[in-house]
Amino acid sequence: MAIKGKVVVITGASSGIGEATAKLLAAKGAKVVLGARHEDELQRITEDIKQDGGEAIYRVTDVTKQEDNQQLVDYAQEHYGCIDVMFLNAGIMPVTFLSDLQVDRWINTIDVNLKGVLYGIAAALPVFKKQNVGQVIATSSVAGLQAYPGVAAYSATKFGVRAIMDTLRLESAQEKSHIKTTTIYPGAVATDLMANSGNDSNNAQFARMSPAEVADAVAYAINQPANVSVGNITISAQA
Ligand SMILES: NC(=O)c1ccc[n+]([C@@H]2O[C@H](COP(=O)([O-])OP(=O)(O)OC[C@H]3O[C@@H](n4cnc5c(N)ncnc54)[C@H](OP(=O)(O)O)[C@@H]3O)[C@@H](O)[C@H]2O)c1
Repeated sequence: MAIKGKVVVITGASSGIGEATAKLLAAKGAKVVLGARHEDELQRITEDIKQDGGEAIYRVTDVTKQEDNQQLVDYAQEHYGCIDVMFLNAGIMPVTFLSDLQVDRWINTIDVNLKGVLYGIAAALPVFKKQNVGQVIATSSVAGLQAYPGVAAYSATKFGVRAIMDTLRLESAQEKSHIKTTTIYPGAVATDLMANSGNDSNNAQFARMSPAEVADAVAYAINQPANVSVGNITISAQA
């Protein structure tokens, strides 16, 4: 089904991959519902989209809070009457060796990257089951496919996202709920994620994609006929 007219909820929509995806999908005629914590950024992006003739609304959302995820989905439904796609994209990546014992940062990473995805699924799934159709897209990482030094907790959450999405795919097939699942595994992307990581120097070695290039992959996954599901996309810059 084409992107035009689809209602797409996006977490982590205030910058980087989420922002680029919101703008791309809105330009293709989707109605986008943005969630993140920074209201000024959500407002800026929503206004940009509207100025370009697109449809967008936002709700301040902290994905570590189950009720915020629920309210984001409720808001999308109240406004547009349904949800077609839930894009679970919010994430953080503290870079710290395990021997640094920054336990609070490990736990925060789990709260955002893993609990946030589970809460997002918990909010969207009843809607999709009722509609008997829907699509969940989640941003994992190449660190969800292999380990790298300095990102143990991050990598664990991204492996976890993979497990959750693979399980959702299998269960949806068993339940015949027609929920498509797409997991995106990006390599390094030029966003604030690395700058906010607490140690960007390690990553200078990696060639980086633009967030718009990841947004293209998300659009590809959405822009498929009803009988075609894109399960996994691994995407990296060509060095
Ligand atoms: N950049 C890369 O190299 C790369 C590679 C692979 C995978 N990824 C994944 O891509 C996703 C997007 O990251 P990005 O690269 O676009 O980085 P980014 O520009 O830093 O975006 C991260 C987004 O997550 C949001 N976020 C963080 N904590 C949140 C919370 N508690 N509640 C709600 N939203 C929260 C941020 O918004 P607020 O701060 O406004 O809440 C922001 O919109 C992440 O899941 C990341 O792990 C990135």
